[in-house]
Amino acid sequence: MRRSRILGLGKALPDRVVSNFDLEKLMDTSDEWIRQRSGIAERRHVVPGRETTSGLAVKAAKAALDDAGVEARDLDLIVAATLNPDYFFPGIGVFVQEALGCDTIGALDLRTQCTGFIYGLSVADQFIRTGTYERVLVVGAEIQSTALDFSTRGRDVAVLFGDGAGAAVVGASEDEDRGILDTRLHSEGKYAKELWLEAPSAMIPRHEELAEGLTPRWYPAMNGRRVFTHAVRRFTEAIGEGLEATGFKPADIGLLVPHQANLRITEAIGKALELAPEQVYSNIHRYGNTTAASIPIALTEAVEEGRIAAGDLVVLAAFGSGFTWGSAVIRW
Ligand code: ACO
Repeated sequence: MRRSRILGLGKALPDRVVSNFDLEKLMDTSDEWIRQRSGIAERRHVVPGRETTSGLAVKAAKAALDDAGVEARDLDLIVAATLNPDYFFPGIGVFVQEALGCDTIGALDLRTQCTGFIYGLSVADQFIRTGTYERVLVVGAEIQSTALDFSTRGRDVAVLFGDGAGAAVVGASEDEDRGILDTRLHSEGKYAKELWLEAPSAMIPRHEELAEGLTPRWYPAMNGRRVFTHAVRRFTEAIGEGLEATGFKPADIGLLVPHQANLRITEAIGKALELAPEQVYSNIHRYGNTTAASIPIALTEAVEEGRIAAGDLVVLAAFGSGFTWGSAVIRW
C-alpha cells in the first residue's frame, strides 16, 4: 500500500521576543498569572509591516525544502493554513507559490485555525496515497500580534498567542510500514462563537462596518473555560481514535506532539491518556500558542532535539476554533 511520509521540516520565528514582563507594561497582568494558567514565558511578535504571514510561511517552507532535499519546482501542491492571512483574499498559498518560484501548481488555503496543520497533513496524505501527487508542501503560518488587543480588556486572549510558521514537505514513502498511518478530522460548528473573530463580516456592508469604528468585534474573543473543557475532551478522543484505527495503545506512543494550546491542556491530555512526561512534547514556554504553526514548529524542534528517532510512533493532535479537532498517527 502506498503511504506518505514527512520528508523534511522547517520553522520560522520572528526575532522580537516579548516576555510576560513586557506584557505587564501594557496591561494589568503578571508573569505569575500567565505562567500558572498557560505555561507561557515568552512569545515572538513581528515588527508590523516588515514581516508578513506569507513571508514567515516562505521562510519555514524553504527550511523544510532544504531539510527534505527537495527543490521548490518539484512540489505538486501547496496547502497553507493561517487564521490571519496577509489579505482578506486571496489566501497566503498563492504568495507562497510565487515567492518559492514554483510552477503554476495548486495552492489551497485552509481555515481551520489551530487544527490547520492536521487538516493540511491529511489533505497531503490523501493526494499522495492515491498517487495523484508526489510532493506536497504543508505550511502553517500565523501573525497573531497585529490582531490582538493589548489593553487589559483583551488580556485573556492576548497573553496566549504568538507569531511564527512551520512547514513540512510530504512525499511518498518507500517503506509501507513507515509514514502517515492515519489521520482523523472533526468539527462542531455549534461552538463557533466560543473562539472567534467576528469582523470584518460579509453580513455587514463595509460602509456601515467602518462607520462603527474599532469595536471589540475586531479582536478575537474566547470563552476560555469552555475552550479548555472541550479541548481536553476532544484532544483525548482524537488521539484515542487514531490509536484504535492503527491498533496501538497510549503506551506505544514514542512522542505526542500536540498543538501547543496551553500547558495545562497538554498536561490534562497526558494525564487522561496516562502518558509519561517524556512521551509528550512542549515548547509553549518559548512561543505561546501559534495556532496552525504550532505543530510543525514543535515537530521541527523535537527532531532537532533528538526526541524522535526513525521507527518511533509519533502522534499529532490539535483542537481549536470552529470547534475543529483531529489527529495524525505517524510511524517515523
Ligand atoms: N492576566 C491576569 N488576569 C487575567 C488575565 C491575564 N492575562 N486574563 C484573564 N484574567 C482574569 C479574568 O479577568 C478573571 O478575572 P475575574 O475573576 O476578576 O473576573 C480571572 O483572571 C479568571 O481567572 P480564572 O478563572 O482563574 O481563569 P481560568 O482558570 O479560567 O483561566 C484561561 C483562564 C487561562 C483562559 C483558561 O480558561 C484556559 O486555559 N482556557 C483555555 C484557553 C486556551 O488555552 N485557549 C488557547 C486557544 S484555543 C486552542 O488553541 C485550543
